[in-house]
Amino acid sequence: MPSTPSSARLVVVIGTGGTIAGAASRPGAHLGYQAGALPAQALVDAVPALAGRPLETHSLAQLDSCDMDHATWVALAQAVTAHLARPEVAGVVVTHGTDTLEETATFLHRTVAATKPVVLTAAMRPATAPSPDGPQNLLDAVTLAATPGACGVLLAFGGAVYAGTEARKVHGYRVEAFSGGDAGALALWQDGRLRPLRDWPAVDGAEAAALAVPVADWPVVDVVTSHAGARGAVVQALAAAGARGLVIAGTGNGSVHRELLAAARAAQAAGVTVWRASRCVAGGVVDSGAADALPIAPDAADATPAQARVRLMLALATGA
Ligand code: SIN
Repeated sequence: MPSTPSSARLVVVIGTGGTIAGAASRPGAHLGYQAGALPAQALVDAVPALAGRPLETHSLAQLDSCDMDHATWVALAQAVTAHLARPEVAGVVVTHGTDTLEETATFLHRTVAATKPVVLTAAMRPATAPSPDGPQNLLDAVTLAATPGACGVLLAFGGAVYAGTEARKVHGYRVEAFSGGDAGALALWQDGRLRPLRDWPAVDGAEAAALAVPVADWPVVDVVTSHAGARGAVVQALAAAGARGLVIAGTGNGSVHRELLAAARAAQAAGVTVWRASRCVAGGVVDSGAADALPIAPDAADATPAQARVRLMLALATGA
């Protein structure tokens, strides 16, 4: 496993917005705040334990992550790649909104060879809350990014470390908002010390070539949810609107309503790539082996539908 030179101590913190950088106009509010209001340096300044640590901060975006876009992903992946290449840098922290964090983590995993740690972190309570969770998460993320031997795209959140591609948001309000799915956490924090449970994730970056493709040329990939009364017309409309790929968020173990399935097969025959994921929060899709089953994201059967969309888009963008 690649290791970080012992002289590398600097941690680069890149802010992209989110609740961790959120500010509420009403003191004490947990909701009704503006996400991404504060720059990265303000988040660092709010953590006394980070004073004196070798840190560099950059504000790349100040987004509510529900508005995350492909151009920001490219700028982020390029910035992370450039900082990782600096010999003095031990690792990179990305502060992000929780809502699309699992998608950004998947994008970075596939486009950045993270031989040093790339640690995403976030918060469920705005920075102005009476007891925000962001400062501890940021402290954990910086500590993890400076941990010798750590690598891969990671999430530091709520006292745990997750592999970025396994992370998923599972609660809309509570501070225990993330899970690692069936794989669970990679490591836990215990009294400021990291307790590893599994190996660091494999370093990927296999689809870095997508960063050189203008985002306007990226293939359109949409997610369609299967549900009672699902209509094939949704698939037809998306294909007619230019979708080159579709991820069906199937029920249970990836089953698809017969109306949707018929439309998906017709779209496949017309050249649209269709993958299946599960709308269940864990478990993914287990391949039944049936010859006519819709495909599953290769090597990522546990991916959430949103993560599978990122993988399919990158696969199509790079011609994989
Ligand atoms: C966001 O995703 O930017 C807002 C919600 C959050 O960070 O928890």
